[in-house]
Formats: sequence, C-alpha cells, structure tokens
Amino acid sequence: MRVAIIGYGNVGRAFARLLEQKRSAYPFRIVAVHTARHGSAYDLKGLPVEPAFGPAAPTVDEFLANARAEIALELTPLNPESGEPAITHIRTALQRGMHVITANKGPVAFASAALHEEARRAGLEFRYEATTMDGTPVYNLVRNNLPGVKIEGFAGVFNSTTKVILAAMSRGLTLDEGIAEARTLGIAEADPVFDIDGWDSACKAAALANVIMDARVTPQQVDRRGIGKLTPEKLAEIQATGKTVALVARAKRAAGAVKLRVRAEVLDKDDILASMRGTSNLLVLETDLMGKLGVFTLKPGLDQTAYGLFSDLVDIARSL
Ligand SMILES: NC(=O)c1ccc[n+]([C@@H]2O[C@H](COP(=O)([O-])OP(=O)(O)OC[C@H]3O[C@@H](n4cnc5c(N)ncnc54)[C@H](OP(=O)(O)O)[C@@H]3O)[C@@H](O)[C@H]2O)c1
Repeated sequence: MRVAIIGYGNVGRAFARLLEQKRSAYPFRIVAVHTARHGSAYDLKGLPVEPAFGPAAPTVDEFLANARAEIALELTPLNPESGEPAITHIRTALQRGMHVITANKGPVAFASAALHEEARRAGLEFRYEATTMDGTPVYNLVRNNLPGVKIEGFAGVFNSTTKVILAAMSRGLTLDEGIAEARTLGIAEADPVFDIDGWDSACKAAALANVIMDARVTPQQVDRRGIGKLTPEKLAEIQATGKTVALVARAKRAAGAVKLRVRAEVLDKDDILASMRGTSNLLVLETDLMGKLGVFTLKPGLDQTAYGLFSDLVDIARSL
C-alpha cells in the first residue's frame, strides 16, 4: 500500500525506519512526504528514510493530489487550542478518498465524532492508536477485544514530563530544575506549561473519552489543574505521611454525561497509579462486563509511537 505523510519529523522518521525493518513481511511504501519548512518529496517506487526534498507543495490538498497514496498519515505538531490545521489535513485526505492515521491527539480530542462520521460516509478508516499511550493498544484493545463492553470510566497517568518533574522535586529540586531534567531527557513539550498545567493530559483524556465513551467533549471542558502550585516542601510533607503525588486523568459517566478531570492527586505509594516512572504510562478502564482492567508501557519511546501507526496501518490493510 502507498502511504503519504503530512509532517515528517521525529515520529515520521521513526515510522519510516520501522517500515524499512519490516519491509519483507509488510510491503508498505512511503511515496510522498510533506513538511512546513523543508519542502515535499515524492517517489512512487518508495522514498528513503532521508528523502531529497523539493519545493513544498503550496497546499496539503495539492500535496495529496500529487502523492497518489491510499493512506495518509497526519504527523504535524499538536495545537492544543483547536486541533487545527491537522483536522483540516485529515478532512482533505478523506475527501481525496484516503484512509487516515494520525499520531496527533488534537483531531481526536476536538473532532473525533465528526471525522469518524466523514470517514464512515466515504467508506474509509480513521485511526489514531499512537495518540495517547505511544502505541500501546488502547483504542484497538477496546475496538477489537472488548465487544459488548461499556466503558464506565477510566484513570490514567499519561504525562511523562510531570512525572520527571515531581520525582525531581521529591529529591528537593525546584520546579525549574525538574523542567530542565525533563528537557535533558527530550520529553518536555516546547512550552512546558502545556505539560505542567495539565493540558497534555486533558487532550489525551478528551481523545480517549471521545472515542471509547462517546463523550463529545473538548480539552477545554476537562476540569483541569496541573502541578504548578506544588513545591519541594509540600512534596516532602506528603512523602512524610507515606504518600506520593501523580498527575492523574479521570473520566466518569454521571447524569448522562462524561465528566473529565485532571489533578495532581495524593496517592498511597502502593496505588497502581503511583507505580509509573519517567515515560512509563498506565491506563485503568472501568467497565460493565470486565470489571477494572488496564494496560501499561514501561519506558516507551519513539519506536513505540511508530509502532502505534504501524499497527493501525496493518489493521486497515487487513480490512480491505
Ligand atoms: N514525539 C513523540 O514521542 C510523540 C509521541 C506520540 C505522539 N506524538 C505526536 O506526533 C506528532 C508529530 O510529532 P513529532 O515529534 O514528529 O513532531 P516534529 O518532530 O516537530 O515534526 C513535525 C513535522 O510537522 C511538520 N509541520 C509542522 N506544521 C506543518 C503544517 N502546517 N503542514 C505540514 N507540515 C507541518 C514539520 O515541518 P518542518 O520539518 O519543516 O518543521 C515537521 O516535519 C505530534 O502531533 C505529536 O504530538 C509525538
């Protein structure tokens, strides 16, 4: 199958490397890539991981028209305020008859119901396994392995940067020193406020709730408080009581709606939500038929995000 990629940065290149590695068993080809500043590249025979870029296509629509691909990957940066321009990129690809896979949580957090409906009407697939837990099956778990199960709620620890910052502050370092540590690890968002104020967790919670609970919310509707008010002294006090703190995202059905909340929660040290360190993340689902069940990933990185895209690609290819 022929793949076109809109946004070719860290995730796009990790995905291209994964395809090279699996080429003999999975004959997918990247035939076109498009970036904001580096230009566009096309080759129907398949592009190398580091393609020679020509001038950028003037619009994403023109890029996709030239790409002659069956599947589009949307891998541009997150816009936490509106999900754009990624939502428009996805609509454009669907209108051109392409299945769409994204690692960008914006479109799922802001427009998943509408995009699903547009894809369904066109007989196409819209997938996003890489958006929330770096490729760990969450959406595909619910879709493929939990038929008939109603998701009543969830609790998740999704944000790596705040885990690194809280761990640093528990060792007596300041918030800024914690941010510097997260930057050294290469995990902080360009603007760390996005992590610290809980926006990243709110976007992931909204994306998840929209898909697995049909919540129809945006990240702005998440009752959100971050870790900005915590100090090393406050953390030391909490630790002295045998407890710890983590930024937890929760969803719950209440009075016909889905309520979402992101908070720095004080947890028992043996609470499963307190067990994740660094980039590791965890999700516990509350269900009607399967009780509570969960997934976690230990120290995921770009290769796991790339795998999330790959798993969607294989799933779509098998369904055709
Ligand atoms: N990195 C991770 O570990 C991770 C994990 C899960 C999900 N994600 C999500 O995956 C997406 C990609 O992340 P990344 O780390 O690969 O980002 P990145 O390295 O910053 O790359 C972004 C790419 O998008 C291009 N781009 C930006 N605006 C564009 C526009 N309007 N039209 C076309 N191309 C545009 C950039 O072009 P230039 O190259 O010309 O600047 C660049 O090629 C993000 O939504 C991110 O939240 C990332």
